[in-house]
Amino acid sequence: MNNIIINADSLTELPKLPYESIDLIFADPPYWMRTEGVLQRTEGTEFQGCNDSWDKFSSLSDYESFTLQWLTECRRILKPSGSIWVIGSMQCIYTIGSLMQRLGYWLINDIIWHKTNPTPNFMGTRLNNSHETLIWAVKNKRAKFTFHYKTAKALNSESQGHQMGSVWRFPVCSGNERLKDSNGHKLHSTQKPLAMLERIIAISSNIGDTVLDPFAGTMTTAAAAKKLGRKYIMIEREKIYCDYGAERLENITFEDSEIARAEFDVKPLRVSMAEMIEAGYFVEGEKFLLADGKEYAELQSDGKLLYQGKIIDMHTCAALAKNLKAKRINGFDFWYVRRGNKLISIKTVRENYRNTLKIT
Ligand SMILES: C[S@@+](CC[C@H](N)C(=O)[O-])C[C@H]1O[C@@H](n2cnc3c(N)ncnc32)[C@H](O)[C@@H]1O
Repeated sequence: MNNIIINADSLTELPKLPYESIDLIFADPPYWMRTEGVLQRTEGTEFQGCNDSWDKFSSLSDYESFTLQWLTECRRILKPSGSIWVIGSMQCIYTIGSLMQRLGYWLINDIIWHKTNPTPNFMGTRLNNSHETLIWAVKNKRAKFTFHYKTAKALNSESQGHQMGSVWRFPVCSGNERLKDSNGHKLHSTQKPLAMLERIIAISSNIGDTVLDPFAGTMTTAAAAKKLGRKYIMIEREKIYCDYGAERLENITFEDSEIARAEFDVKPLRVSMAEMIEAGYFVEGEKFLLADGKEYAELQSDGKLLYQGKIIDMHTCAALAKNLKAKRINGFDFWYVRRGNKLISIKTVRENYRNTLKIT
């Protein structure tokens, strides 16, 4: 059951999904906004906030019972390596976060989505609400979950190439990205930015994984999943959103990229010195030098080094030759060999050898 939109209630559909079958869940549940009256801009026009029928609950215990049901089912169907991301505003996120912890979910991060173009507080009666919170959690404390750390660094628009932080800046969905109904009005009051979903899916799932959204709305999650080569299961109660969402997905195709494949996080092939000697990339008896060009050690057939009459591994030997306090340092960062009249880092030689393995 993949790449489908289920037009139904999540509370009846989630129990039908098999145990531990989902790699990633993104949930943007009803906020229970409790909006009263009509919101008006300062010049008097009406503002369409989130005052939809799907957002109504009779009491806190009603909202808690609903939340408890879908969160319980999501935990059952989530794989041990999977993640769940839940987004919410101040009206609901504390209830959701508290119930998640009670159910045994383990919190990884809470992320502030800082809206760069928030709706103003028209009446000036309180601070302008310019953020929502995302909770990133896993099944339990011991879960070994998917996280593409280096892909996150590559996606860090705040500070390219640096560790991604927990404040994300995206504009509220607008312009061409915002789905419109047949009258040209915005179709959905809370359509999320595609770029945010792409980030979440890219860093916490793999190509081919299954992504579930139990409150799919305009199918933003499916759009991001499809673009990144993931499969999707979307549940949405309102038919109109399912119809427009299905049309939206028709125009989206898989865009292959280093980000989609999380290539930054692919671990390099493990290769041994002994196999590189056998393949002719190093020569038994050749001299190992430091960057100063002095010969310090001699390579042995098993990849160890002869240094001052003793045979030791290259990492310990590098620390000794550099006269450091540390017992071991990464020898690949320090040792050189001669090729012709040039000094070449042994890391470069290893890279050259790895490249031949990729080709064959
Ligand atoms: C906050 S919106 C999600 C918006 C979505 N993330 C997007 O980008 O368009 C919540 C959605 O959940 C749907 N919904 C509410 N209760 C539901 C339920 N019990 N089962 C399935 N869908 C539900 C609503 O119709 C609404 O579209």
